[in-house]
Amino acid sequence: MDVIICSDQDQAGARTAAKVAQVARQVGPRVVIGVATGSSPLQAYSALAGLIAAGRLDLGQASAFALDEYVGLPWGHPQSYHEAIRQTVTEPLGLDPTRVQVPNGFAPDLAQAARDYEHAIVDAGGVDIQILGVGSNGHIGFNEPTSSLSSRTRIKTLTEQTRIDNQRFFGGLEEVPRHCLTQGLGTIMDARHVVLVATGGHKARAVKAIVEGPITAMWPGSVLQLHRQATIVVDEAAAADLELAAYYRKMYDNLPDWQRLPLA
Ligand code: F6R
Repeated sequence: MDVIICSDQDQAGARTAAKVAQVARQVGPRVVIGVATGSSPLQAYSALAGLIAAGRLDLGQASAFALDEYVGLPWGHPQSYHEAIRQTVTEPLGLDPTRVQVPNGFAPDLAQAARDYEHAIVDAGGVDIQILGVGSNGHIGFNEPTSSLSSRTRIKTLTEQTRIDNQRFFGGLEEVPRHCLTQGLGTIMDARHVVLVATGGHKARAVKAIVEGPITAMWPGSVLQLHRQATIVVDEAAAADLELAAYYRKMYDNLPDWQRLPLA
């Protein structure tokens, strides 16, 4: 696991974008990117849009797969992740909308929609780089505590904590759906690279648990300790509880040139 401690949210976004761009350049134009919704990756998406505007990256032929979707929100619902991905990823990054997929939380047969989603990822050749946020309870995707560490895309019940955390996007807690379709932890672990970005003091406990705690389904993101190409990008506030912070800083400052992220 590489842990990169950044001065603030903007630097975290720029370094997350740099990691995505590095993998995209290595893989080539048909790169497959796993995308997260929520607040955490927004600076990274802006930084990627900046690289594209500057002619330093082209994602016009890339494919993207979202991590999750609420159950029961119709197409075009302003709080649906379909809509969030369209507004924050597909349009600003110039992706071809026909190559961007989000789980179908409005399908009449959700179990089939989940299986179809797994097949679609495999048919695309698998995810080259997965962008992740982390919930204050350690979830990645919507894999809530006690999720199987080898789970696949499926229906999950959201915890009250997650519903409370996400009510800011809705009119109130009652409007937040209770269920979702989410890629499983096993699905996420199949991505060839993962980059998780977490900022703010409210993420410090989760960051500590997933980076330095034991691997446990109680902190689902801790499964990333088993991933061979995982990068964790945090700001100072989210890094506050890390015991080995000085070591991560020293490691990053002394990386040989060939291991450095290109400046975004
Ligand atoms: C979003 C997702 C979630 C979020 C997490 C953090 O697609 O899968 O795991 O990344 O809930 O949300 P924010 O970034 O809003 O704090």
